[in-house]
Amino acid sequence: MTKQELLTQISNDIREHTCSLRAGCTQAVPGDGNPDSDIVFIGEGPGKVEDEVGKPFVGPAGRVLDGLLAGIGLQRSDIYITNVVKCRPPANRDPSPSEVAEHAEFLKRELELLKPKLIVLLGRHALHWFLPNDQIGQVHGHAKRQGDQVFFPIYHPAAVLHNPPLMNDLQNDFAKIPALLKKTVELLPEPGGSQSRRPLAAAETNTNIAQTNLFEIK
Ligand code: URA
Repeated sequence: MTKQELLTQISNDIREHTCSLRAGCTQAVPGDGNPDSDIVFIGEGPGKVEDEVGKPFVGPAGRVLDGLLAGIGLQRSDIYITNVVKCRPPANRDPSPSEVAEHAEFLKRELELLKPKLIVLLGRHALHWFLPNDQIGQVHGHAKRQGDQVFFPIYHPAAVLHNPPLMNDLQNDFAKIPALLKKTVELLPEPGGSQSRRPLAAAETNTNIAQTNLFEIK
């Protein structure tokens, strides 16, 4: 199967799965975008508009994101974007740890297939999936390498809808992405090469990842 076919299979599995959030939402929302991109963005979970449309980041937070992407010369078609949970939690409440665990298989499969070099973590839920001991207010804008992937935590775009001054931090952090992407693409080995990138262990052992060999990209 081609990469696109495998991704379609994952999306179909997401749409057809049952979970404790599924009964309360309109539809499950799989990831979307360019499967060949070196950069993947991960959000929290679908909001009201995403739940209605069936695509990630197509509501107000998505418009903020599109503006930030445009500011660094990127479009949605340049990136792949997905969420920690694929079904909208009622009234946009935080997903519970058990709801996150129910959906973990899907994000893990997406990342194992796409093998992105740079993973932009949008907000604390995506951050805690990989780096459970980090606080977004302290680590946003600081890249960390783990194995053959680089994580880049930033505030969630929806945060500026409630707290407009955060736009400054988001713009500053976004401004680092082009150089970071260039550096990760140059530094990290190609998947399938002699130094084949290992599958993302974090998805299974996310409680331990903060103790693994992380370091700052200067
Ligand atoms: N917020 C998210 O975290 N994900 C979406 O898809 C939309 C809003």
